Amino acid sequence: MPVEVQNKSDLELSRENRDRLFEAVHRYTETFLDSLPQQKAYIGNQYERSPEDSRLDIDGSPHPINQLLELIHNRVDCTGLNPASGGHFGYIPGGGIYTASLGDYIAAITNRYASVFYASPGAARIENALIKWVGNLVGYKNEFGGNITSGGSIANLIALSVAKTAKKIKSRNVEKSVIYTTHQSHHSIMKALRLMGLDECIIRYVTLDKNFRMVVLDLEKQIQKDKAENLNPFLIVANAGSTDVGAVDDLKNIATIAQKENLWLHVDAAYGGFFLLTEYGKEKLKGIEMADSVILDPHKSLFLPYGTGMVLVKEVKYLLEANSYEAGYMTDAKKWNQELSPTDLSPEMSRNFRGMRMWLPLQWHGIKPFEDCLNEKLELIRYFCDTIQQSGFEVGASPDLTVAIYRYNPKHQDREIFNRNILKKIIEDGRVFISSTVIHGEFWLRIVILSFRTHKHEVDTLIELLKKAVKKESEFKPDI
Ligand SMILES: Cc1ncc(COP(=O)(O)O)c(C=O)c1O
Repeated sequence: MPVEVQNKSDLELSRENRDRLFEAVHRYTETFLDSLPQQKAYIGNQYERSPEDSRLDIDGSPHPINQLLELIHNRVDCTGLNPASGGHFGYIPGGGIYTASLGDYIAAITNRYASVFYASPGAARIENALIKWVGNLVGYKNEFGGNITSGGSIANLIALSVAKTAKKIKSRNVEKSVIYTTHQSHHSIMKALRLMGLDECIIRYVTLDKNFRMVVLDLEKQIQKDKAENLNPFLIVANAGSTDVGAVDDLKNIATIAQKENLWLHVDAAYGGFFLLTEYGKEKLKGIEMADSVILDPHKSLFLPYGTGMVLVKEVKYLLEANSYEAGYMTDAKKWNQELSPTDLSPEMSRNFRGMRMWLPLQWHGIKPFEDCLNEKLELIRYFCDTIQQSGFEVGASPDLTVAIYRYNPKHQDREIFNRNILKKIIEDGRVFISSTVIHGEFWLRIVILSFRTHKHEVDTLIELLKKAVKKESEFKPDI
């Protein structure tokens, strides 16, 4: 049977169809953005599967775009958390600046193969320029390198795998090797250690001070004790903005100990890193430039949509060593090495051209609006803490960055139940979204101010809702 040759594919759209589709999608996203101020930050009554959810299943047939957009609206964008809302104060809010979406659009249409310099020297140069910019921001000089990842968890995994390589940790010495961190570390650190089999190392959770920062003296004493016992201390993981409370460890003194004792220092600045754009942040994160590796999430404090993290290593040779490979089919590509290729610096090979969603906004807006936005968040958290304290709330620790924990101390009722009920009321209302945490067995309400769409209006809405919730809860056994 002769093969029938077709010169076109239904997957290749005509200009007319592209325009039609684009117009429909553009109309959808514009309506979404225009209605954001009226949208809830959380819709919590949509967890049960609805009959309409069966339309999410792939049935193999084509469907008109307007039907699909309606389905996306009803069954995706009107369910659960709305991270695009300025009322999102939970967890660590992501961003979603518009210019980044246009970067993604360009990257997806042109589909440059950013992983290999040979395939796309321009795309690799853009990603390297971003690494250079962030590395300079951290304070690294000359020999550093890095990689743009899908997020902070993978960035942590890469950084810790570099520490393992640089400190020559092999299976035979895992059990005697020691890692130092605190209970403020993000769970992705533990996940990464487990993935690498390093959870079998001895893990020391160093004491925290009242501001949830690592007690440096205890760290030093513990390292010396472990060395005296012939163990192999090799890694310290410190926080530059912990998820729970936003704590920034004393990076300078921790780094000094790491250097003196010859340990690898990794700093998780996934949330806090881009505060380095502010004068306040530069002061707060002093010493970060001494870390051997650092991660920062542009999809947190640089307001990008989810899907962008970054790992930086002070001496790029270790990052290269951890990710080195041999493959006959890569010989041609390896001939072109004027610049580093992202694939030589990470476990990933083919991936989207992530740099474009970061490069376009930075180049189009310039840096100032990012700095201004971060300064605004720092002011807002102070305003929030001051205002709720005046309304009788207790604030857990003075915030290092833009996370605060707080609770109401009722005179006549169980504190935890009272605060859990406040949380429930705020979440049920849905105009804003907050989360909670449990620290040393105690329940706290938690706020993170990080969305570029969060301004005083949203913070005031939360304050009003908190006051109302306290009033309502107190009706049973009056407190106020
Ligand atoms: C301090 C810190 N590290 C790591 C992560 C993990 O980052 P991602 O969610 O991008 O994987 C987070 C996430 O919130 C974080 O706050």
